[in-house]
Amino acid sequence: MATLKEKLITPIAEGSTVPNNKITVVGVGQVGMACAISILGKGLCDELALVDVLEDKLKGEMMDLQHGSLFLQAHKIVADKDYAVTANSKIVVVTAGVRQQEGESRLNLVQRNVNVFKFIIPQIIKYSPNCTILVVSNPVDILTYVTWKLSGLPKHRVIGSGCNLDTARFRHLMAERLGIHPTSCHGWILGEHGDSSVAVWSGVNVAGVSLQELNPAMGTDKDSENWKEVHKQVVESAYEVIRLKGYTNWAIGLSVAELCETMLKNLCRVHSVSTLVKGMYGIENDVFLSLPAVLSTSGLTSVINQKLKDDEVAQLKKSADTLWNIQKDLKDL
Ligand SMILES: NC(=O)c1ccc[n+]([C@@H]2O[C@H](COP(=O)([O-])OP(=O)(O)OC[C@H]3O[C@@H](n4cnc5c(N)ncnc54)[C@H](O)[C@@H]3O)[C@@H](O)[C@H]2O)c1
Repeated sequence: MATLKEKLITPIAEGSTVPNNKITVVGVGQVGMACAISILGKGLCDELALVDVLEDKLKGEMMDLQHGSLFLQAHKIVADKDYAVTANSKIVVVTAGVRQQEGESRLNLVQRNVNVFKFIIPQIIKYSPNCTILVVSNPVDILTYVTWKLSGLPKHRVIGSGCNLDTARFRHLMAERLGIHPTSCHGWILGEHGDSSVAVWSGVNVAGVSLQELNPAMGTDKDSENWKEVHKQVVESAYEVIRLKGYTNWAIGLSVAELCETMLKNLCRVHSVSTLVKGMYGIENDVFLSLPAVLSTSGLTSVINQKLKDDEVAQLKKSADTLWNIQKDLKDL
């Protein structure tokens, strides 16, 4: 007796059993779910997998997203605490771990999140040995280094979301001052995603017009318009949002979706993301920091050599030293 399905459907050929553009998000907290909904909203993947240790929360989030399938373009949304569910991912976004409490620095989270990563990263590699891992958990630069060490992946396939968010915050604040959309306000935040990030004032421009040429004091204490405050606000904005609502999630989710889009669609766009900077700008240690980098389906394929001023290079090196001093004491990587 033929089933309803057999009566309805005449098979012609076997469909593909392997997804084309699968993305996994590890950690379904505030950041993980903001990444998930932003990725789904852009229609980037044919399959989205979610992983967490909290089984009920995981199932609840999966079901809630599945109920929105009618409005999305993902064929499958799956979730499990077993990493088998992540198999054949092109990109794995890692957001698992603890987040900052009010007033707590990102660097303070390091040992707790390293322990979490020691479990997660080998599981990801077991099921998706050819993936690119995009690290979001904080302190993101150190955890990107930890992921590179634990995964055995080549450096171009381990990327930290880094200063992509800081750059977005900078461009938003610049846009507010100028009354021009952020996409037309160009500027770069490099270095550590956090307290020692570097604003590249020499490169800030609108339509190729250098703002520092119009205001040579830009970024210094002598500037009557106090543009330096914009960078200060960037550094303080996560603390401010955490104080106000307890966590940050929407902007990081949107920025992660943009990074995934660049990689999955092979767009070769340039983003400020965390990469191994040893040998660049005189940095001698295995440290991950954000530089403008080209992303493609192969991962992070090149870095743009910005002409940084001496003080900007000095700040970058200081970031590198700060991170290395923490990293060199990490055990069992
Ligand atoms: N890079 C950035 O720009 C940026 C921005 C915002 C937040 N963050 C970081 O993202 C991380 C997550 O923040 P959040 O607000 O979503 O926190 P959250 O507490 O809401 O969620 C964290 C999730 O990780 C899960 N988790 C913990 N251990 C796990 C494990 N071993 N395996 C799988 N899942 C596990 C938890 O169960 C929880 O669901 C934090 O480290 C935070 O600092 C980074």
